[in-house]
Amino acid sequence: MLKVSNLNVHYGVIHAIEDVSVEVNDGEIVTLIGANGAGKTTILHTITGLKKATSGNVVFDNVDLLKEEPSKIVTHGVAHVPEGRHVFVDMTVRENIEMGAYMYKKKDKDKMIAKMDEVFIKFPRLKERQNQLAGTLSGGEQQMLAVGRALMSDPQIILMDEPSMGLSPLLVQEIFSIIKEVNQQGITVLLVEQNAKMALKVANRAYVLETGKIKLSGDADELLNNDEVRKAYLGA
Ligand SMILES: Nc1ncnc2c1ncn2[C@@H]1O[C@H](COP(=O)(O)OP(=O)(O)O)[C@@H](O)[C@H]1O
Ligand SMILES: [Mg+2]
Repeated sequence: MLKVSNLNVHYGVIHAIEDVSVEVNDGEIVTLIGANGAGKTTILHTITGLKKATSGNVVFDNVDLLKEEPSKIVTHGVAHVPEGRHVFVDMTVRENIEMGAYMYKKKDKDKMIAKMDEVFIKFPRLKERQNQLAGTLSGGEQQMLAVGRALMSDPQIILMDEPSMGLSPLLVQEIFSIIKEVNQQGITVLLVEQNAKMALKVANRAYVLETGKIKLSGDADELLNNDEVRKAYLGA
């Protein structure tokens, strides 16, 4: 479904991503784990067109995303939940959710309202707070809002950048069960995480990224029991 091959990305002279290949099949949860600075966000930004690649390919559903306008990528069914949520703090919860539907808002108001109802069923807390400014939400609620907003574009795949960052253990659990639920409803997930343990528990397959290179990959269960992974990422 999504195939990243031999990707190289630079920031000036910094070779941030070196020959990275990652594949995500329809229906999977695939996680990309790695320490701070490993290059996780850079890979997601390259997929969504926010950062230009030096070389390599990113193909989604037979579309070469590296040749697409960044603003068009979402119309191919790719949604992005950015690192640090990036909700619009001065807009209400409802307005934030509407922003996720901008591509079909004008054409199909009924569809937008139906989608919003789905989001409110999944996140009753957002429904209760729909007229509240997003900046007044807690971190966990803002993360839910970021996911809800992404779901509005009716994606085939959702790219999530460290959704557990800065959340209490209880909320981390909640966010990961939401990820599972979203996936069970048929949405493929590419999950980027520093929280390797939780990510490997929820994912089908995983890639370990170290300073811009893929060090290991395989079934998430296998990596969870891999000695190298346990020592470096699971504190065991
Ligand atoms: N805008 C930027 N300008 C220069 N270097 C950057 C920029 N963004 C990221 N980098 C560098 O690229 C590398 C990968 O960063 P990033 O993709 O943010 O890692 P991660 O998301 O895994 O923490 C790091 O060395 C980081 O310093
Ligand atoms: Mg990052």
